[in-house]
Amino acid sequence: MLTTLRSFTISGFVVGALLWPGAGPAAAQPGTSLAPAGWDDTIKLREAVDKNPDPSIVEIDLEARLAEVEVSPGKVVKAWTYDGGLPGPLIRTKVGDRLIVHFTNNLDQDTTIHWHGVRVPIEMDGVPGISQPPVKKGETFTYDFITPDASLYWYHPHVMSAAQVGFGLYGALLVEDPGDGVGIEDELTLVLSDIGFDKTGTLEPADSGGPAGMVFGREGAYVLVNGRVRPTLKARAGAPQRWRIVNAAKSRFFLLDMDGQPFVTIGNDGGLQEEPVTSGTVLITTGERLDVLVTPTGAPGSTLVVRAMLYNRGYGSVQYRDVEEVFTIQFTDEPPIKNAKLPVVRRTITPTDPAGATRVPVVLTLPPAGKDGESEFRVNGVPYWEAKPFLAALGEKQIWEIDNDSEWDHPFHLHGFFFMQLDEKDQPVRPLGWKDTLNVPMKTKLRFLVHFNERPGEWMFHCHILDHADGGLMGTVLVGPGQPSTSQHEHHPRKP
Ligand code: C2O
Ligand code: CU
Repeated sequence: MLTTLRSFTISGFVVGALLWPGAGPAAAQPGTSLAPAGWDDTIKLREAVDKNPDPSIVEIDLEARLAEVEVSPGKVVKAWTYDGGLPGPLIRTKVGDRLIVHFTNNLDQDTTIHWHGVRVPIEMDGVPGISQPPVKKGETFTYDFITPDASLYWYHPHVMSAAQVGFGLYGALLVEDPGDGVGIEDELTLVLSDIGFDKTGTLEPADSGGPAGMVFGREGAYVLVNGRVRPTLKARAGAPQRWRIVNAAKSRFFLLDMDGQPFVTIGNDGGLQEEPVTSGTVLITTGERLDVLVTPTGAPGSTLVVRAMLYNRGYGSVQYRDVEEVFTIQFTDEPPIKNAKLPVVRRTITPTDPAGATRVPVVLTLPPAGKDGESEFRVNGVPYWEAKPFLAALGEKQIWEIDNDSEWDHPFHLHGFFFMQLDEKDQPVRPLGWKDTLNVPMKTKLRFLVHFNERPGEWMFHCHILDHADGGLMGTVLVGPGQPSTSQHEHHPRKP
């Protein structure tokens, strides 16, 4: 019986059916790059600089400040940034490393950093009034924790989240397992997002559209990949690539399509999954991550566009939206690699036993707007500012039954713990995998099993459409002994 998730990170990976193309010596070995020189130069993320010589410690400085950022030629926005760029720098650690982040807030308002998905101690969770005081203008705070599980994570503020994330404050944290056995050398981390601004480069206000904007979830008109509008990636046709994708938009979903060419999903929020799944499109809702293998194919010299297709997450997301071009793959003139077989990446995951789990109903509603035109999302009948914490004993297993009784999808995120989705018979959904954010479609019930086996404290949960979170769809679960905080409500007041 596994008692901590930590044990899963060293569980076995079986990689089979690895057939590499025999075309040319460069292509003969797994772990060898097949990509053309400079293939990702115009798309790849800046990386944070590790100033600690200890190989098991990554120590960086990070500053939140305003900066002008060019998202496409001539299009400059005065964004809120980490270290002056959009998105923030990619932070890389190896599984088990210690990460130390000396954070300085040079914004004009309070902020914090939340390490989305990482099993951090509660003091490092970045929620003002619960896990730490807000970091005020001019102040610093040091985040210091172990990165216990391999996967792609991300970091973002937890103060006025819809505003601050929408204005540009987010970045990727890649926790790598050098022994994961995937063996695809050409790997790219893709931070998908969007931003809205006018001709003068002024950000679209966080309250644009009023209550209707909150209910829909505001989307910026500029769709970004690693901070750029429609960037281009060079590729040799037929050469496999591994894409680590995070949706850091505050509201926009990405249903990616590559002209019908297959995506092989090998992992999601909490690292590799039990076995690969091949599909023609992949959906990444806000806050989620995907680990996919692709083999983009086309005639030498041609291009292939990766698009975001229409997906109905609520009224207006299909009716008033267009398919978006997300990025372009430009094939070089090299002859295509024929019949490259992707590795079959498997992970042995022992599911948590649901026996004895407590059932926790979680009903999500959107009552009709009041006379004042205001709307609020509710969890079990109350918006966040009236909610009391859910309770869990340390060591307790719970099955959260999320009943989305609203006409909007809600990507439901729990801080601090991975969970496993269950079907209606309480059987784990296959292939097995660990999630921290699960999209619960409109008028749908989904359930998951979570084991609150460690790290007592008050942990947040909320919709990761951050306008919905700020509109009331948030709560906390108090794990183990301790007093619920009250002051956090001051930091998430109802909008005036
Ligand atoms: Cu990315 Cu409170 O979450
Ligand atoms: Cu929502």
